[in-house]
Amino acid sequence: MPDRKPLIAGNWKMFKTIDEALITTQQLQKQVGHIKTVDIMIAPPFTAISLVAPFIKDTSIGLSGQNMHWEKEGAYTGEISADMLVNAGCQYVILGHSERRQYFNETDEHINKKVHAALNGGLKPVLCVGETESERDSNKTFSVLDKQIEIGLQGVAIDHVDNVIIAYEPVWAIGTGKTATDEQAQDVHAYLRKRLNDIFKNSAASSIRILYGGSVKPNNIKGLMAMPDIDGALVGGASLDADQFSAIVQYE
Ligand code: 13P
Repeated sequence: MPDRKPLIAGNWKMFKTIDEALITTQQLQKQVGHIKTVDIMIAPPFTAISLVAPFIKDTSIGLSGQNMHWEKEGAYTGEISADMLVNAGCQYVILGHSERRQYFNETDEHINKKVHAALNGGLKPVLCVGETESERDSNKTFSVLDKQIEIGLQGVAIDHVDNVIIAYEPVWAIGTGKTATDEQAQDVHAYLRKRLNDIFKNSAASSIRILYGGSVKPNNIKGLMAMPDIDGALVGGASLDADQFSAIVQYE
């Protein structure tokens, strides 16, 4: 089995002023900055990224944007590019989060352009996929994921595969306290792994980390991480609190 180093990622969404972000980052640096067995990533709001960066330099904690535009630069008011994120200190970028799909009309085609721009710009994209409750109830989970993953990753070259990260976030589990069971999540992760192998026609796909997201907390992370195809977590609410996020990072 390929060695997939676990990644525990915190998506801060639209929370925290610069001062609040600095406090949480410094707490995390003290609590988990030394950990070597797990990759850690936080995604603060854009305004805080470059200011928290010096506090986690040379630690295990990496930095991510929560979104970006696919163009390198230009007249796109309100947008930010891969180069800008790299320059601010990021190694990762979250793309296609269900909140961006739902509230900002992002399509799989937009997200695919962003995936390419991120990889070409030297960022690791965390491509988010997931079904809504009504899609699950009408047995459309796998067809929805097929479309999201096929279009989202269209044209990605095999030599970029190691930098691709997938996050499975069932929309019905986000911010609701309703987590998928360990087995429900594992079933979908195994399915996604198989689809990745089909897409890349190469066992290199088995090195892609697939994170689970949706109401991950200190009390449910261990069971999720025990599943063979769950390689980490994308944490929302619980990542805003350094103690809770540190407990999730130290799930073992
Ligand atoms: P919650 O952990 O708050 O459910 O959010 C999950 C999420 O959307 C992470 O990107």
